[in-house]
This record gives sequence, C-alpha cells and structure tokens, in this order.
Amino acid sequence: MKTVTHTRNAENLKQEIGQLVRQGGPNVQDYQQIDNLMIRMSNQARAGLLSAEDLSSIRTEFGVSLSNKTMQGFMFNKPHGYAGDFEIIERMYTWHISPDQQCTKWDLFVQNHAACRAVRNRKSYFKEVVKVYMERHNRTDIRLLNLASGPCTELAEFIQENPAFHISADCVDLDSNAIAYAKQKFSGSTAHVRFIQKNILRFAPDSPYDLIWSAGLFDYFNDRQFGQLISRFIPYLTSKGELIVGNFTDNHPSQSYMDLVNWSLNYRNPEQLLRLGQEAAGDNYNVRVGQEPEKVNLFLHIQRP
Ligand SMILES: C[S@@+](CC[C@H](N)C(=O)[O-])C[C@H]1O[C@@H](n2cnc3c(N)ncnc32)[C@H](O)[C@@H]1O
Repeated sequence: MKTVTHTRNAENLKQEIGQLVRQGGPNVQDYQQIDNLMIRMSNQARAGLLSAEDLSSIRTEFGVSLSNKTMQGFMFNKPHGYAGDFEIIERMYTWHISPDQQCTKWDLFVQNHAACRAVRNRKSYFKEVVKVYMERHNRTDIRLLNLASGPCTELAEFIQENPAFHISADCVDLDSNAIAYAKQKFSGSTAHVRFIQKNILRFAPDSPYDLIWSAGLFDYFNDRQFGQLISRFIPYLTSKGELIVGNFTDNHPSQSYMDLVNWSLNYRNPEQLLRLGQEAAGDNYNVRVGQEPEKVNLFLHIQRP
C-alpha cells in the first residue's frame, strides 16, 4: 500500500533530480549530491519505502538524459536486450560523450564514475597479465582463449601495441553483433584471431590455452555456475597455463548508480573469489586475487604452482 512516506520520499528525489536536469545535468560540484541521492534511492527501494511505481516516476524525471543518447540511458534501456553489451562497454573504452547539450554533463558524470574507470582499467590489466606471462615464461607467442570477448578491445590494442608478441586467440561470445563488431578490428591484421559465436555454458575448446581470460562475464553467474565453469575450463590450460576471471567487488562506489539503471551483478569480495576459486580448482592449483587501480574490478587468477 502506498503511504504518505512513500510519496514524500519519491517527491523529494524527483525534485532534486528535476533540478539537476533543468540545469542541463550535473556539474563537478554536484557529483557528491547525485551519489548521495542514488544511495538514498537504493536504500529506500531496498527497505520497501519506494514502490515500483515510485521508481518509475523518479526515472521519468530524467527525461532525455535517460534515453539511449546517454551512457546511463543506454545502460537502463538495454537496446541489445541485456546488461553489459559490447556497445556500452566500447562507449566506456572510447570515452563516449554525447554532443547533445542535455546529455553531455550526464555522460561526463557517468564516465568519471568508479565503475566506468574500473572497466577501462581492465584493458591495461589484461595487457600487463599477457606481458608478465610472456616474460616469465620467456615466450613471444601464446595461445589465448577470451571468454565473452565483447568488443575485444583489450586484445586488439595489445596486438597493435606489441608487434613482437604473437597471440593466437579464440574469442567466444554469445552475441552475433558483438562478434561482427569485434571482427572488423582485426580485418587488416595478420594476427590469428578466431571468433566463435557460442554460449560459454555450451562451449568446449578443441585444444589447450596458455591463458584463459574472461572479464565482465562471471559476475552474471551465481556461485554454482561460477564454480562449474572454472572447473570446466581449468583442464584446457597448458601445464604452465593461467586462468584469469574478472568480477566486480562488493560495496563499490558505483553500486547505487548501477541500481538506478538496473544493472545487477553478483558482486564478490576477494575472500569469496578465493574460496570459489579454491573449491573449483582443488589443491593442485595456486589461487590469488588481483585488482585494478580503482579496486572495483577484481581478478581471480588460477594456475599450477
Ligand atoms: C560486459 S561485456 C564484456 C566484454 C569484454 N570481455 C570486455 O571486458 O570488454 C559481456 C559480454 O559477454 C557476452 N556474454 C554474456 N553472456 C554470455 C554467455 N553465456 N556466453 C558467451 N558470451 C556471453 C555478451 O554478449 C557481451 O559481449
């Protein structure tokens, strides 16, 4: 039942958002205010103090700034049918800012948020992992499996920036549009990059890999699926191979904002990742957790001692 408190909560939030929208979006000095507002909204929704109807009328207050023209609108509307598609991730990588005056400031705000910075940091994390692996094993060529490759930007950049290293890669993604988009990045390249359109739940490799990498996928799976997938892919590592799986941590600064745009993930802290990794890999493997500088995107590493 809708109470007076419900209505007051919703009206207060709408008023604050409306003000920001009328001024053309948040300025840098407003960033803390929106963060606080999102935390309030999330907490109230979780405590049942905002109804679905309230949340919908609060979102309406954003107007065009919650349309596909903006990062936040794209995240909320999910034009590809699911959260975290290749296009929104690529918009983060390329620092996409809408030229529409009603949207520009919202995009600047979102692009500066911890989650977007963390996603961009994935690329350097990947490049570092590959370089360290090659150097440690004194290799200049490796076989890589990229699970849920999306726009495949990290691999394309690595290949372009490191002509002395040779990666032969298999990239698996469920979305044919993601594959078509990623493929054109390698069209003029001599690199051996093969794209496979498949659900990773049903994908079985035909040969082993030195590195198995997956970012932006495992946090969509529950613990059972997470463990099963790790157990399934470990046997496809070479004897010195390493599996690296990304997962957003819990209690990160963009959590309430992600609630606003209905982007829900299974957040996992380092202890949870370690436990899942150890349970899935068993005693014959070393398991550790790394993180990018924002400390939002964690990475579970599994390899033989
Ligand atoms: C958040 S993006 C991550 C892309 C890329 N790994 C990156 O970090 O830039 C998630 C990708 O996972 C793909 N995906 C989601 N579920 C999948 C599944 N079950 N099997 C294969 N790909 C999947 C989506 O199509 C999307 O391209």
